[in-house]
Formats: sequence, structure tokens, C-alpha cells
Amino acid sequence: MNDRLSKLSPSNITGHIDDVTGSRRLRRMRKAEWSRRLVQETRLTVDDLILPFFVTYGEGMSEPVEAMPGVERHSVDMAVRLAEKAAKLGIPAIAPFPRERAEVKTEDGSFVFSPDNLINRVVRAIKKEVPEIGIITDAALDPFTTHGHDGILRDGEIVNDESVAMVVRGALSQAEAGADIIAPSDMMDGRIGAIRQALDENGFNHVAIMSYATKFASAFYGPYRDAIGTLGVLKGDKKTYYIDPANSDEAVREAEQDVIEGADMLMVKPGMPYLDIIHRLKTTFRLPTYAYQVSGEYSMIKSAGLNGWIDEEKVMMESLSSFKRAGCDGILTYFALDAAKKLKKHD
Ligand code: PBG
Repeated sequence: MNDRLSKLSPSNITGHIDDVTGSRRLRRMRKAEWSRRLVQETRLTVDDLILPFFVTYGEGMSEPVEAMPGVERHSVDMAVRLAEKAAKLGIPAIAPFPRERAEVKTEDGSFVFSPDNLINRVVRAIKKEVPEIGIITDAALDPFTTHGHDGILRDGEIVNDESVAMVVRGALSQAEAGADIIAPSDMMDGRIGAIRQALDENGFNHVAIMSYATKFASAFYGPYRDAIGTLGVLKGDKKTYYIDPANSDEAVREAEQDVIEGADMLMVKPGMPYLDIIHRLKTTFRLPTYAYQVSGEYSMIKSAGLNGWIDEEKVMMESLSSFKRAGCDGILTYFALDAAKKLKKHD
């Protein structure tokens, strides 16, 4: 045996033999399309895609969201068509977000649990007409509050426990409407446990919870606020309840709390600037883990693509693949339809 090899323990030898003998050539497996396919470690499929979309009032209407080229707000009937399209492409689940009318907004966001709000209307319509697609709903209060916060604002403070009680009522109304997964994005303490308990007590033990476990106080949400009409509405910022973008250990503690309280799935939001968090949560908890490639990430790729500065389709696919490599089981992405179409071509 080669002298240098004989000094190595078996674990050192594994995978390193040609390195030791000085003949390692990493390009060997990259030389052809077939061998690159053979050694590819992670693969994006249609099964990984979740489509977030925006709902508005009206009929037969889809209107563009200015800050998100290619994304529209849809009236409920058009949202059903969109869900049909997603289902046909094989996308497993969708996530509606409402642009509510100013008249229904209040200080406490109580329209969140009205059966007549846009979320509950669109959930009922899609459940009825496209029953094969999964529906994920957010129970945060921001589309329903006059101040744009995710919780109840009192004397300049977002009060935790009352906000949780309101979020729970929202979650129950969504389960009632037919939501399959409740995904609360408000980041109040104790919301996962409270939602789990309320769901179970009301006969919804089959409804799952995807926790927006680590939602960061990010500037990447800007275009979303245009989409749901809270741009310029928000008083102050969300730093007292979302996580500081500088923190990683705190993100693990936050996710751990949600796991203890009964989260079935974890989500990291935003996505690409937080791939390290995705990887840490996946390796720590081994739960199904998702990324939300948020509006700002979408709009950056889209606008650079529209300007011809990057190849939009390639950057889209590369960004989505990076989530898989980091450990994601799926991605909420406004590119879901485009990516699914692209992936179908290769079937
Ligand atoms: C708030 C909420 C946000 C998003 C979805 N729900 C963040 C915010 O407005 O603070 C962002 C989604 C996106 O940017 O695509 N509960």
C-alpha cells in the first residue's frame, strides 16, 4: 500500500484517496452534462414550491402590484383560476394575502376573524373549486389594523397576550373556512401553543401549523406592503416583535420555543440573506423547514432581469436551488408559477 495511505485512519481515507496520492481532480465529474446530473446533490422540484399571492375585492379583476412586476392582486374568482393553474402545474400549496379595504380596518384588527374577510372568502372558494391544493393562511393582524402592525397597539406598545388572543380567533376562522395549514407571521410570544390548543379544542386537530419561527425585522418586505396596501400606513417599525437581523442564537431559541409549543413546520423569513439560519434550524430540529423568498428578494431579481442586467430565469432557479442546498423542504416564492413551468419542461 502507498506509504502515505497506510498512515491514515479509514475515516480519513474515505473520499480522500486521490487527494492523498496527489491526483484529486474535481473537474473529472463536471466534464459532461450526464456526469454533472449524476453527482448533483440537491434538486429543486415542483413539489418544493409554495405560491404566495394577493387577493383584493371586485370581480373578474387582476391588477398589477407596482413594486412587484409580474405579480398581481386578484379578485376571489380570479384567485380561484390562479389556484387551478398552480394545481395543474403540480404546485402543492398556495398562500393568500389580502389587501383589505380601509373601512374594515380597526385599531385591534378584529376583522381578522370575520368570515367575510378576503382570506376566508378566498379559502372557501378555492377549497370548493380546487380541493386538491393545500392552503396556507397567515393569521397576523397587519392587513386588518389601522396602524399596520401585526398585533394590537396600545399606548405605543404592541401588547402580546391580547394580540395572541386575536390571532387565535383569526386562525380559528381560517380553519373554519377550510385552511389546511395556519402560518402565523406575527411573532407574538406563545402564539403557536395558543393556536394549537384552540385548534384542538375546536375539532381542528388535523390542521397543521407552519410557524414563521424566525421572522426578521427586515427591509426586504417593502414591496409586500405596497401589495397589501399598508405602505405608509405602518407607524414606527416592527423591531419589538421581529428578530434582529444580526442574531442567530436567538433565532434558534425562537424556533425551539415554537417546536415545544407544537409547530409542525418551521419557516425562515426572509430567505436568501438568511441561508445560515435555515441550515442551523434544519440541522438542529430536523423538522420540515421552509424559506419565504420575500417580496424584496423577488423584486430585486425581477427588476435587474427586466433591465437586462442579469438573466432572470437563471438567477431565479439558482436562488431557489440555494434554498434546497441550505436544507429547505420547500420555498414560498412569487416565482412559483414560472419555476414550475421551467421545471415541467425538463420532466
Ligand atoms: C406581516 C407580513 C409581512 C410579510 C407577510 N406578512 C411582513 C411585513 O409587512 O412586515 C412579508 C412578505 C413579503 O415581503 O413578501 N405579517
